[in-house]
Amino acid sequence: MTRRQPLTFFAALLLAGCHGNALGGADEGNLVAARKAVPDGTKVFNLYCASCHGEHGVAPGVVPVMGPGALRSSFGTGLDLLRYLEATMPPGPSARDLSPADYVAVTEYLLRVQGVAVPEPFDARSAASVQLRAR
Ligand code: HEC
Repeated sequence: MTRRQPLTFFAALLLAGCHGNALGGADEGNLVAARKAVPDGTKVFNLYCASCHGEHGVAPGVVPVMGPGALRSSFGTGLDLLRYLEATMPPGPSARDLSPADYVAVTEYLLRVQGVAVPEPFDARSAASVQLRAR
């Protein structure tokens, strides 16, 4: 089941922007909740992804992976995201360090940061039920 991002998410981002807050992408509340819910995914992201994407999912010259609009235009479901990450991220040999469980965890982390309701347990099967595109 999908829960659309609540308007408050955008409002919070707007406010953050107005105050010159350095969040640059992810909503602080979602980030804190996602870190708590998926510690393994947080670790994977910060170790293997943040070097290019930034801890808040936004970095110059790279497509944002957190924040308004991120992921939704590129992926139909959570499973599409998972398969994309397994196939392409991180680019280069360090991808070999990541287990299938690491990819599931980092996918769940990204979804939670986006404020997407994820099924529990979150795995490749349940990821398919997470709809990312607005209908
Ligand atoms: C070496 C730099 C680098 C690292 C490390 C890296 N990425 Fe990426 N990532 C990129 C680039 C560049 C793109 C854009 C690729 C393209 O457009 O074909 C990208 C694209 C993506 C996208 C697609 C976003 C979209 O909407 O199209 C996602 C999601 C993503 N990365 C997540 C991750 C995750 C998760 C990790 C860690 C497991 C990671 N990346 C590690 C450079 C990196």
